[in-house]
Amino acid sequence: GVKIVTIGGGSSYTPELIEGFIKRKDTLPVREIWLVDIPEGKEKLEIVGALAKRMVKAAKLDCQVHLTLDRREALAGADFVTTQFRVGLLDARIRDERIPLSHGLIGQETNGAGGLFKAFRTIPVILDIIKDMRALCPDAWLVNFTNPSGMVTEAAIRYGQWEKTVGLCNVPVISQKKCYEILGLNEEKQELFFQFAGLDHFHWHRVWNKAGKEITRDLINQVYSPENAGKYQIVKNIKEIPYNFEQIQDLGLLPCSYHHYYYLTADMLEDQLEEYKDHKTRGEQVKAIEKELFELYKNPQMDKKPEQLTQRGGTYYSEAACELIESIYSDKRNLMVVSTRNNGTISDLPYDCIVEVSSLITSHGPEPLNWGSFAPNVRGPLQLQKAMEECTIEAAVTGDYGKALQAFTMNPLITSGRIAAQLLDEMLLANREYLPQF
Ligand code: NAD
Ligand code: G6P
Ligand code: MN
Ligand code: MN
Repeated sequence: GVKIVTIGGGSSYTPELIEGFIKRKDTLPVREIWLVDIPEGKEKLEIVGALAKRMVKAAKLDCQVHLTLDRREALAGADFVTTQFRVGLLDARIRDERIPLSHGLIGQETNGAGGLFKAFRTIPVILDIIKDMRALCPDAWLVNFTNPSGMVTEAAIRYGQWEKTVGLCNVPVISQKKCYEILGLNEEKQELFFQFAGLDHFHWHRVWNKAGKEITRDLINQVYSPENAGKYQIVKNIKEIPYNFEQIQDLGLLPCSYHHYYYLTADMLEDQLEEYKDHKTRGEQVKAIEKELFELYKNPQMDKKPEQLTQRGGTYYSEAACELIESIYSDKRNLMVVSTRNNGTISDLPYDCIVEVSSLITSHGPEPLNWGSFAPNVRGPLQLQKAMEECTIEAAVTGDYGKALQAFTMNPLITSGRIAAQLLDEMLLANREYLPQF
């Protein structure tokens, strides 16, 4: 049987994961699930862990669920290690959102200064986890969901040298579902063909129909035309402020929702300043959603994933995580969008960097579909973003202040110069307990 270890097991997303394993009980024989957390997460771990046990029991799954604060105990002999932890908890996220905003800059969990600090806090922890894995489960796959997912995956492969790492995001899953819904097609039939390429939270995609006709432009015209502006909501955490239609038409590719921060920076900032002033940052909203979710999870009658989990931006995450595990386990060779080594797939980017691309999932991992090169309209921003990520990861590993300031300067969402240095200093101070490397 298969042994799964989930780091950050106290996450409110855990019931999704359990549901995904239950759905696959005939094809993926999961016999042990170890949910690992830290002392600060003990209460959440116990609540969600008890729900996980009830779900497994109700589904008559032949599987033991273990809860532990001892990561090393859990990792011994693991086949798949999944990560869904948040270093510094939601309070660190709220600071990532508030501090940049107080300097008149976008405050977001994976983009701009907030995203860079999430990388600084998280990368040392993922490298520690890999050290334990090397000793305790040297053949295991590392399935990373922890944000910023693309950068954390690149750190694991490049600096941790854990080749068997795959990064995930739910946005491509949601985009595909939305596309079927918009066209009134049944997703089960899998009649559309999608190809995604770019970086995590910085990708574009093309779509073809059953007859082999590319329908990317038809979809652009439907989703982003001024008449339909704002009609289609994609992920829960990003407001679909209308893009400039002609600019999206010029791309000739479907953008992801995270491009709002780059294509509409001032508009998104204005919206954040408005929403976060009277109301709350997304991190604060998530605190409230989480409170509600954990009240539901506590109910001893509850033995399945509650509907309310769809309020979280990461909903459908298990469709990616459990599917990936099943595909590797059974050498399924289906198509999924994952963060993996470029290997020339996108010819505009370094050969060995991590990209988020449509890939065949085999028992030896993802085999990306070739994409080729992008036109200058995407190539420019993409190369800058990747180089900025590389500097961020290097700063996260080495604690080099100049490199961190370089990443801030390169990042399109952070004003260069005096503001960049002040913001960096302020955030280093606010995060000092989670940044041993600086
Ligand atoms: P959360 O705040 O509930 O944190 C999950 C758990 O991690 C908590 O119980 C916490 O105690 C624990 N934790 C913190 N530090 C830890 C450590 N060092 N070791 C083990 N456990 C630790 O977070 P969440 O909202 O469930 O999100 C979890 C992670 O997944 C975040 O990094 C988030 O950004 C990411 N996420 C990714 C995607 C994606 O598309 N890839 C989508 C949603 C969320
Ligand atoms: C999105 C993304 C995640 C992101 C999350 C935020 O869909 O794919 O990477 O971090 O959802 O959701 P939240 O509910 O925490 O704001
Ligand atoms: Mn994501
Ligand atoms: Mn900048």
